[in-house]
Amino acid sequence: MTNDTKSASQILVLISGSGSNLQSIINACNSGEIRGKVVAVISNVPQVKGLERAAKAKIPNMVVNHQRYSSRSEFDDELCKIINRFNPDLVVLAGFMRILSKDFVKKFEHKMINIHPSLLPAYPGLNTHQRAIDAGDREAGATVHYVTSELDGGPCILRAKVSVHLEDTAADLAKRVLEREHIIFPKVVEWFCDRRITLNNGVVFIDGVSVPKAGLLFEDSSEH
Ligand code: GRF
Repeated sequence: MTNDTKSASQILVLISGSGSNLQSIINACNSGEIRGKVVAVISNVPQVKGLERAAKAKIPNMVVNHQRYSSRSEFDDELCKIINRFNPDLVVLAGFMRILSKDFVKKFEHKMINIHPSLLPAYPGLNTHQRAIDAGDREAGATVHYVTSELDGGPCILRAKVSVHLEDTAADLAKRVLEREHIIFPKVVEWFCDRRITLNNGVVFIDGVSVPKAGLLFEDSSEH
């Protein structure tokens, strides 16, 4: 299938780092799995690999360095102004490591999604993999969710599980989880661009059917 540019959704991606999730979304747009187009990439951190990935894919990319703003609201206002120039249908937080204000989140309600490297509601915030290992968890994973003003607390859409091995370091686990992130994040973007997902009164619907509070579980037979 090729992209129908007329009806393709406009996707804007916010990053702070390596951008491997961004890359998985670019790839899925290029292959036609996602009927959408990444129209811009914005990083709050200069010179990160994700910006190189965007440039390589010829996607407009820019830095809005939060360190140059004296307050969170000043940064958020500037970010909002730039995002609005692109009038995106979907704003994707792909490893965007910055807490956004309530006002900002409100402006993009129902059209902003994030990926978090844990099985939410477990371990919102940072160091998710080490926390899972320290707790002796047997499984870990990642969750794609709508963004609300509650940190990593928005309605869950899709999650994927991986096993935690006895000898795992946080880096080992992060690597295994990231592989699953690269599958479930483009999948949700695909559903969104196909207008298959909606959010109604805090409940996520896919094809009109409500999904469980923890999100749908991505089943993958290759994971042991
Ligand atoms: C991912 O694990 C994501 O879940 C987390 O930060 C990491 C970003 O990776 N929020 P990348 O920048 O997409 O490679």
